[in-house]
Amino acid sequence: MQTILDPCCGGRMFYFEKNHPNILYLDKRSEVVEMKDREVIRTLNIEPDYIADFTNLDEPNNSFNFVVFDPPHLINCGKNSWLAKKYGKLDKDTWQDTLSKGLSECLRVVKPGCVVAMKWSERDIKTTELLKTLPQKPAFGDKSGMTRWLFFVKGIENEY
Ligand SMILES: C[S@@+](CC[C@H](N)C(=O)[O-])C[C@H]1O[C@@H](n2cnc3c(N)ncnc32)[C@H](O)[C@@H]1O
Repeated sequence: MQTILDPCCGGRMFYFEKNHPNILYLDKRSEVVEMKDREVIRTLNIEPDYIADFTNLDEPNNSFNFVVFDPPHLINCGKNSWLAKKYGKLDKDTWQDTLSKGLSECLRVVKPGCVVAMKWSERDIKTTELLKTLPQKPAFGDKSGMTRWLFFVKGIENEY
């Protein structure tokens, strides 16, 4: 039974268990990415359980015990760079709307009283800028460092 959702799993690089039976792995693309990066050939398999858009998830309200949300965080990399192929790239004019809708969808599908964990990298956009655009404040998380884990709790009064 898939009780945990990852709506943008990419190459599952942060997983110790890449095929955990309780996790539903989604992404907006399914592809094998191969690229020469400084003379080294790199390969990344992106094989979601099914293709999905985290701004409009085809999942019922209040249906997961936990959601892990690691959206693209780059806006300045080249469109065909290895970084863009690995992590995806945000549009510089619409990133705020994309991430706000993404977190709203994660909060819609997680059960009341449960948590959405969002991973962020400050490489191109500061966490303070990100937080201005999101529909809810994190309850707790990393307050320093390049990589930040932010935890959003869905209030028990917020059943959809
Ligand atoms: C930072 S990467 C995720 C890396 C992943 N956590 C890992 O461990 O490898 C972000 C992923 O979000 C995907 N993505 C971008 N926009 C999306 C959308 N609207 N819906 C679903 N996935 C999306 C990209 O294809 C990319 O694979």
